Amino acid sequence: MTAQHATPDAQAAAGRAAALRAEIARHDHAYYVLDAPTIPDAEYDRLFRELQALEAAYPELRTPDSPTQRVGGKPLAQFPPVRHRVPMLSIRTETDTGASGAETFDARVRRELGLKDGDPAVEYSAELKFDGLAISLRYEHGVLVQAATRGDGETGEDVSSNVRTLRAIPLRLHGPAPAVLEIRGEVYLRRDDFEALNRRQAEAGEKTFVNPRNAAAGSIRQLDPAIAARRPLSFFAYGLGETEGWAVPDTHAGVLDAIAACGLPVCEHRAVLQGAAELAAFHARIGALRDSLPFDIDGVVYKVNSLALQQRLGFVTREPRWAVAHKYPAQEAVTLLRDIEVQVGRTGALTPVARLEPVFVGGVTVTNATLHNQDEIDRKDVRIGDWVIVRRAGDVIPEVVAPVPERRTGELPRFDLLARFPTCPVCGSHVVRGEDEAVARCSGGLFCPAQRRQALLHFAGRRAMDIDGLGDKVVEQLVDNAIVKTPVDLYRLGILALAGLERMGEKSAQNLLAAIDKSRSTTLARFIFALGIRNVGEATARELARQFGKLDALMAADEVALQQVPDVGPIVARSIVDFFAEPHNCEVIAQLRAAGVHWLEGEPAVPAAGALQGRTFVLTGTLPTLTRDEAKALIEAQGGKVAGSVSKKTSYVIAGEDAGSKLAKAEALGVAILDEAGLRALVNENITNA
Ligand code: IVH
Repeated sequence: MTAQHATPDAQAAAGRAAALRAEIARHDHAYYVLDAPTIPDAEYDRLFRELQALEAAYPELRTPDSPTQRVGGKPLAQFPPVRHRVPMLSIRTETDTGASGAETFDARVRRELGLKDGDPAVEYSAELKFDGLAISLRYEHGVLVQAATRGDGETGEDVSSNVRTLRAIPLRLHGPAPAVLEIRGEVYLRRDDFEALNRRQAEAGEKTFVNPRNAAAGSIRQLDPAIAARRPLSFFAYGLGETEGWAVPDTHAGVLDAIAACGLPVCEHRAVLQGAAELAAFHARIGALRDSLPFDIDGVVYKVNSLALQQRLGFVTREPRWAVAHKYPAQEAVTLLRDIEVQVGRTGALTPVARLEPVFVGGVTVTNATLHNQDEIDRKDVRIGDWVIVRRAGDVIPEVVAPVPERRTGELPRFDLLARFPTCPVCGSHVVRGEDEAVARCSGGLFCPAQRRQALLHFAGRRAMDIDGLGDKVVEQLVDNAIVKTPVDLYRLGILALAGLERMGEKSAQNLLAAIDKSRSTTLARFIFALGIRNVGEATARELARQFGKLDALMAADEVALQQVPDVGPIVARSIVDFFAEPHNCEVIAQLRAAGVHWLEGEPAVPAAGALQGRTFVLTGTLPTLTRDEAKALIEAQGGKVAGSVSKKTSYVIAGEDAGSKLAKAEALGVAILDEAGLRALVNENITNA
């Protein structure tokens, strides 16, 4: 569009659109390349929507380098072929993962350059060998016009519409716009993005990927760019293809810097080094860093730094003589799955663990790997006796990613965790698995040693038995020293056992004993909550206490009866039945009652419906004796509701000292206002009348 034909409005729109495009590109660069976000997401979205609106009003503003054009293409039938004007080479691999791998390469380079022993060291550019998929990006006059896969090196596939969805890749180069600039690099997936993608795939019942490389390659070769757009792909540039009208630097390191200045992501882990010893040191340094990198690498790459020397060295059959990939131990290996056992986690979850024929993978010998859960075993169809691919990457736990079906000999039975482990291998309680749940669990929550720490912390929590001073550190010591096994042991503690703990003086030991003693007198709702029954939160516990009145009635209830309680559906009902069906739990409960834990049970004064049923209260200010939680409990115990703000529907506002705007609002709306005494009177009056 030329300015002289445009209306003033259109001119202003064109100016604004250009400014928005530039600003969004700047934020994309900051976020995806520099990893230093500049604005909040909401602000970014606002800019984006403003640009979209402008382009909707003036479609001629929709330029190919507009960020709105990253996802747009229709699904393709196939990818058109692309002939690379400069072939895409591959790299020779040095599989000797020791220091001598670097020496062999340097010696060959020196020999081919005709250098003698006394001649100076060769200068190299060293970088990472990313484990993804090679892509060539073609920019013409600064604008991204094409992205292609490597293919056979001569001809690749045009995957432009997928690559355009990567926001780390600029649609327009920063700085001067050469006639042609082809930038080559690797599309990859970060490990965390890979895990998240696989989780999403599994949840959607779609196939999961074995490793980030397969996931990246599969995503780039997606015929529907809308799907590719949802894959969180990343990119690192590492070299050049065709250039025209661009001043090519003299060294490879210079090239990388120049590419970074054009706005493309170049990995920070790169160095200019002299001679074999420095190469070997780089290999070792990156090797130590490998696990903590957020993405997979399978080695490092050394390139002769001088482009003139590179030219002199040339290449043999697609492999340049001036570069080598120096590998690390593989992060995947194939081994025999000998058996499947289970591990019981802190929440009682049973994780199937593969017992493997020892195999060297990711730099260590692996004998165990996780199989996650029964659904994963089914989905991957992993069976005992299979040859399996084991992956150990980064700091993550080694996992069995897939069986090798070709190597399965004969019929192997499917693995069924519940059949194999009907009872918990740690405590012998029965194992349950909810209908819609992936995870099988030990039901001996109060009894199982694997769950002790978690169970005790929950039991002592402020909203459960409220034992002040029984925190993380104390529980840890009590459990580790086998002083406390189940909550019952808390009520048998003496001052000596406690005072012996780290950072626990006599005074705090006494305080803790007093707090434990005080907790003996509680409410049924708190006690139910304290049991840590799966899926039974504080509100459900309160509801259960109200409806059943007595613990024995709750323990005897079947799923049908339980589902009569508001908010209790089939899953919660099942969890409750499972919990009380476990004799170990019932034993602990009986012992707790024998140890003096008690509550006011089945008080006839509380009618099932609750005396304050149907009334809504708002609390404000400080009451003379009741805390906010206690006042709330008092009201809710009688079936009343406590709301956060005053409205016409509020029945009463209970006001204490320093009551603020809620009191004023109640007055304005004519809502009844009571003090604490008034609240107590209301409760008593209603109970006696009930
Ligand atoms: S340079 C000089 N540099 O490894 C030859 N390649 O077999 C051109 N790769 O398909 C490649 N990291 O995708 C180069 N820092 C790096 C690399 C790298 C990974 C991949 C590349 C290529 C394969 C070479």
